[in-house]
Amino acid sequence: MKDPAVQIEQLREELRHHEHQYYVLDAPEITDAEYDALLRRLQALETLHPELLTPDSPTQRVGGKPREGFIKVLHSSPLLSLENALNEAELREFDRRVRDLLGGAAYRYVTELKLDGLSMAAHYRDGKFTEAITRGDGTVGEDVTENARTIRSLPLRVKGPFPNFEVRGETVMSRRAFERLNADRDEKGLSRFANPRNAAAGSLRLLEPRLTAERRLEYYTYFLLIEGQPAFDSHWRSLEELRHLGFKVNPHSKICRTIDEVFALCNAWEGKREELPYEIDGVVVKVDSVEQQRQLGFTAKAPRWAIAYKYPARQATTTVEAIEVQVGRTGALTPVAQLKPVEVGGVTVSRATLHNEDEIERLGLQIGDEVVVERSGDVIPKVVRVSAQGSYREVFHLPSHCPVCDSKVVREAGESASRCINANCPARLKETLLHFASRGVMNIDGMGEALVDQLVDRDIVRNVADLYDLTIEDLLSLERMGAKSAGNVIRNIDRSRANPLPRVITALGIRFVGERTAVFLAEAFGSMDAVQHASLQELQLAQEVGPKVAEAVVQFFSEPGNRELIDRLGNAGLQFTYASTLPKAGPLQGKTLVITGTLPTLSRDEARQLIELAGGKVSSAVSKKTSYVVVGEDAGSKLAKALDLGISTLTEDELRLLVTVA
Ligand code: IVH
Repeated sequence: MKDPAVQIEQLREELRHHEHQYYVLDAPEITDAEYDALLRRLQALETLHPELLTPDSPTQRVGGKPREGFIKVLHSSPLLSLENALNEAELREFDRRVRDLLGGAAYRYVTELKLDGLSMAAHYRDGKFTEAITRGDGTVGEDVTENARTIRSLPLRVKGPFPNFEVRGETVMSRRAFERLNADRDEKGLSRFANPRNAAAGSLRLLEPRLTAERRLEYYTYFLLIEGQPAFDSHWRSLEELRHLGFKVNPHSKICRTIDEVFALCNAWEGKREELPYEIDGVVVKVDSVEQQRQLGFTAKAPRWAIAYKYPARQATTTVEAIEVQVGRTGALTPVAQLKPVEVGGVTVSRATLHNEDEIERLGLQIGDEVVVERSGDVIPKVVRVSAQGSYREVFHLPSHCPVCDSKVVREAGESASRCINANCPARLKETLLHFASRGVMNIDGMGEALVDQLVDRDIVRNVADLYDLTIEDLLSLERMGAKSAGNVIRNIDRSRANPLPRVITALGIRFVGERTAVFLAEAFGSMDAVQHASLQELQLAQEVGPKVAEAVVQFFSEPGNRELIDRLGNAGLQFTYASTLPKAGPLQGKTLVITGTLPTLSRDEARQLIELAGGKVSSAVSKKTSYVVVGEDAGSKLAKALDLGISTLTEDELRLLVTVA
């Protein structure tokens, strides 16, 4: 048997390598599942040998205990802020001052994107991460070590030429993580974060590191210091060295030899900033030579050797003239602020989403108020805050009846959205039809808003099944519909019958069931009929289907109207069965599994049933012939034996995945 200490160290090295590939270089070499399997193997070994556990182990990112408050810590040298250049003239003025102060010596700049996050210092001793401190007031920050440890792009252990050093950089949340977080908060009825920066700040200060870990923060470094001083005589060299040490360094840093070059670069990024996966608010320009930085020195609060070229805020102030209500596909009522038109970063904005009633309350907004609106990414503009109360204000309430069909509006406990209860509400129907026909779903070209509006308003179409009864004559009776386009639409509807089952499931618009989940449902059940009749528990056997999704599916099919709809779609010849591309025989055919410990939700018998249904065998003893050991809590000697023999272990979740999809 291999020495566990050696085994553990090898696994850690391997995991560190993959962490770096994935989180720092964005170039994963293995799948998430493979990574998780390695991590769990290490976890299991560490559980068996607690004496070998160290804080820099990849398993210890969420190891620390929650703190009570955050301790204040003095920085090794102040984290200064930067002076801003708000236009070309100010940027050139900065360059002129640099040139004058350097008395004719040659110099060059390093430009970096100004990431919109929070600056943070991270300390390493003997190559190991020891402490992370937020900027705070620049002199004193807060110790956020345990939370920073959860940031996967921050290496816990570094091999380099010097054992003790400090890095400084920016903690950011990507737009994607931000949107996911807010969507999740909407669902839980919590207030939204106004922007990724606030979300990152909030996440770093959570009292529960486990929660910080879920927020998917990233850490980009830009300074490498030893005893508070730059480690190299060139800033560029420090960036290269940081990369080398395994830190994440923004790839868009450049060396610029003239201020013209700098300005051109600032302009170029202003046009491209939306394409970046995170938000930036400008470009930071730094004199490269550390010796020249020393010559240039500091003003009271900022270095003379660097400046932030700031982009104009994409915020503006205007008045809320009215609040309208839109009804979406799920019947959710969304309040939309009607604004006095205002230019925000080159675009005229006259509407902004207010998300839901809670959001209006959080903002303290009333009609007539003056508000700050913000545009970020390609999302709809939003109201950030009330900047002044209007002299004539009017409180807004969501209507108690749907503005489109006058049915009752209800807000269920624990939900932030209020919904129109009428499944046949024309507003819902229109959205449903558009979703059904959209690209990537049923792909009915020509079925756009203009056509859908007429079909619904004239009562020709009352549900998606009616589409398959449409005739050329029906379409020709509509405005702006010639024989040729009518023919095309009918032909496209006809062709849509051939779409495979996952598309049909997606098209139904069941809550939480998107393209991906629809594929998993089709894979797991093979037919519409089987999905329709699956129980809550059976549904959860499908990949990525948890209680929330399962509940939504069951609820959808429990509506008599929906069942009738499904029957009609079946009669219309849509694809209700699915020939999986995967082999038909049981996914665990020929495999022997051993179960040990207490599984989170399945009893022993249930687990055995699952395995047998999938064609596998269950044995009570681990041997060389065992294919997998399913491991629950308090696993003992069987786990040890499995590890010893190098047999793969599975969690309950992984077992579910194997039996349904393989
Ligand atoms: S250097 C002495 N570089 O911008 C120089 N800052 O306005 C200190 N920031 O507090 C900062 N990206 O939070 C620097 N590449 C970058 C940056 C950056 C974003 C933030 C940082 C700083 C603020 C200064």
